[in-house]
Amino acid sequence: MAIDVLEAAHRLGLSAYGVSFHVGSQQANTEAWDGALGSAAAIFGTLAERGIQLKMVNLGGGFPTKYLKDIPAVESYGRSIDAAIRRHFGNRIPETIIEPGRGMVGNAGIIKTEVVLISTKGSDETTRWVFLDIGKFGGLAETMDEAIRYPLATSRDGDEKTPCILAGPTCDSADVLYEKTPYALPVSLEIGDEILIEGTGAYTTTYSAVAFNGFEPLKAYVI
Ligand SMILES: Cc1ncc(COP(=O)(O)O)c(C=O)c1O
Repeated sequence: MAIDVLEAAHRLGLSAYGVSFHVGSQQANTEAWDGALGSAAAIFGTLAERGIQLKMVNLGGGFPTKYLKDIPAVESYGRSIDAAIRRHFGNRIPETIIEPGRGMVGNAGIIKTEVVLISTKGSDETTRWVFLDIGKFGGLAETMDEAIRYPLATSRDGDEKTPCILAGPTCDSADVLYEKTPYALPVSLEIGDEILIEGTGAYTTTYSAVAFNGFEPLKAYVI
């Protein structure tokens, strides 16, 4: 497909310049670029045989932010990508660019939220439901499938903890942040307490709905 598109572009008089890919966001595997670079090199080779000299590979984003789990050091990504480029392109190293997103700004943001309700769903249910004033529609869209688990901080973090299901404030039944794997939060947590959601510098304000359920979009303050 990429070969056909680049060849068609060339035929139409455009400059077929290179290949872009993205290996998947929050990429914890430092070797993930290897396969894509192999494919890119194959595209370069095929097009060179047809007289089209590509010049650039855009390595995309994917560099992770530290949430709850540790992530590899940025240097190990550099070393692995450098080795993969040399392995697949030999002496004909192309121009390269990267498009880091969350890896660059994820840890630059914190969301300040408030507990608006704490409840249990029935008399025989012990797991607490903690409702925040922000949910999936207010900027935490990346909690979808509980894929991104943000670190949470409260002023009661030294207290005994209990598993809690975390939910947002809207009436939408999808507005549950963490249920499959509940969060351990202080038993002393009360309505009105502040919770800081860390690592929220990427994919939060930009995902916030305009006014779903009457909630204002997430405000951002740049310090
Ligand atoms: C084309 C493109 N490049 C780069 C990025 C940044 O990705 P990441 O935040 O995983 O580094 C994205 C994210 O959506 C993207 O669509």
